[in-house]
Amino acid sequence: RLLSCPGTVAAALGTEEQSSGSAETGSEDGAPKKRFSEVQKERREQAQRTVLIHCPNKISEKKFLKYLSQHGSINNHFFYESFGLYAVVEFSQKESVASLQKVTRTPSLGTEAAIPFRSRYFNLKLKTPLNQTSEQSSIQCRNQSSPSSKKLFELLCCAESVDDQLNTLLREFQLTEENTKLRYLTCSLIEDVAAAYFPDCTVRPFGSSVNSFGKLGCDLDMFLDLDEIEKFGTHKASGNFLMEFQVKNVPSERIATQKILSVIGECLEHFGPGCVGVQKILNARCPLVRFSHQASGFQCDLTANNRIALKSSELLYIYGALDSRVRALVFSIRCWARAHSLTSSIPGAWITNFSLTVMVIFFLQRRSPPILPTLDYLKTLADAEDKCLIEGHNCTFVRDFNRIKPSGNAETLELLLKEFFEYFGNFAFNKNSINIRQGREQNKPESSPLHIQNPFETSLNISKNVSQSQLQKFIDLARESAWILHQEDKDRLSPSNNQPWGLAALLLPSVANSMSLAKKKKKTSSERIKNLLESIKSSSTENSTATNG
Ligand code: CTP
Ligand code: MG
Repeated sequence: RLLSCPGTVAAALGTEEQSSGSAETGSEDGAPKKRFSEVQKERREQAQRTVLIHCPNKISEKKFLKYLSQHGSINNHFFYESFGLYAVVEFSQKESVASLQKVTRTPSLGTEAAIPFRSRYFNLKLKTPLNQTSEQSSIQCRNQSSPSSKKLFELLCCAESVDDQLNTLLREFQLTEENTKLRYLTCSLIEDVAAAYFPDCTVRPFGSSVNSFGKLGCDLDMFLDLDEIEKFGTHKASGNFLMEFQVKNVPSERIATQKILSVIGECLEHFGPGCVGVQKILNARCPLVRFSHQASGFQCDLTANNRIALKSSELLYIYGALDSRVRALVFSIRCWARAHSLTSSIPGAWITNFSLTVMVIFFLQRRSPPILPTLDYLKTLADAEDKCLIEGHNCTFVRDFNRIKPSGNAETLELLLKEFFEYFGNFAFNKNSINIRQGREQNKPESSPLHIQNPFETSLNISKNVSQSQLQKFIDLARESAWILHQEDKDRLSPSNNQPWGLAALLLPSVANSMSLAKKKKKTSSERIKNLLESIKSSSTENSTATNG
């Protein structure tokens, strides 16, 4: 069946994307999975030996590599396009970067003046343009964006089963190896700027760039880690002396964070090559500096003092690595939510991808037998080294995958997708809170329409922003999607008529449209679907009981 599909399918199933999946969490074919801290350390170190080069549109790859090799051997390189041609080049040694910087000049601009910041982001110029006859091997660019909806529909309709559809969607949307490298490199370049104020600081990516749930095109969340500097300094005090820095004091941790981010924001705006549209959003609950990194095309959110968020990224990474169904289901739910405008890139009363991910994890903890363990259980498996206390919050959980027993649950993705919609289509959101620490519903401690407990800062609701009407939209769409999948089950034996089916049918905007057309009847139609669903289910249970009997 695959062979009869458009050529894109073969490309999509090629080795490149498959290897990118394994880069995140270790190989999917049973090879050991890497710990989160190992991945972070390895990639960070790689990024520090890497440079970003804006290239002329026509260059000879061979000569380009030969030219750069003068500074040392090159481990790895790739090209990508984003308003011009860019190369990411990873040297084997950090010294090569310094050697390249040494022979690089600051441009002399006609009427304007340059801020002479010597970064690892370069501009390559040709002294004489390449002539047409010289070797101009066409440069292969690595794609950095997600597939168009047309291509996605083609792929989904060609899939063999709903399970295959979910896995295809995951393969198409997950971050590629190159995109992940570019994310770590961007953090590393920002770290160089921040190091002007705080030498030895660390800028770490967190959120979907590293938690294995990131989709091509997602934002780049990073945080400026100054605690790491402190760790270097914890030498054993000798004798009776203890040395402290003379510092300026401010009334609170929050104010300190705001002041630090404020100067880094200024620095990025004035000196940061490729950083544009810098906005300081310092009054938010978690103060941040937002900017675009033009060369990589990433929308960046820089925070400081945000170790708990890094810990929650690690937790999601573990959940994503525990069972191969988790990421497939999360990606499909995220895409479904995006297709129906339940999520948005603009902040507001919408449900967020982070909340959706936690909802999927919770749902998988509720299966029988559970597909994912509770956070409290992961805490019981922790050893002394896993102990982690951040700002008074206990963030301890086991970090070694080998100590977590795989689930005995063998449910298909198709069933899980359907049951997810049914579960949340009928969830008592008015009474209950979603809690992945305990893996069961809790009474809502406050009246927000949607309450999802923050796994570490347990007094916080990660979906406090969600309005009643957005929650209702989610419930209505979940019910309709469950209904569509049930209908398909019933019609399974009828001849296919080239209509989008399975996941593809759920991503069609027409579902949402028909609902907004029937706006006035909305509540009743949603209730009707719920009742219809129940009647289908009870009749199919009766049938199966009858057959079994
Ligand atoms: N976060 C949190 N509480 C929130 C929102 C966010 O703890 N209410 C943390 C989570 O660790 C989250 C990270 O901040 O992963 C980044 O937030 P965000 O960018 O909103 O979510 P992502 O998971 O990165 O998803 P997306 O792909 O939509 O960016
Ligand atoms: Mg994000």
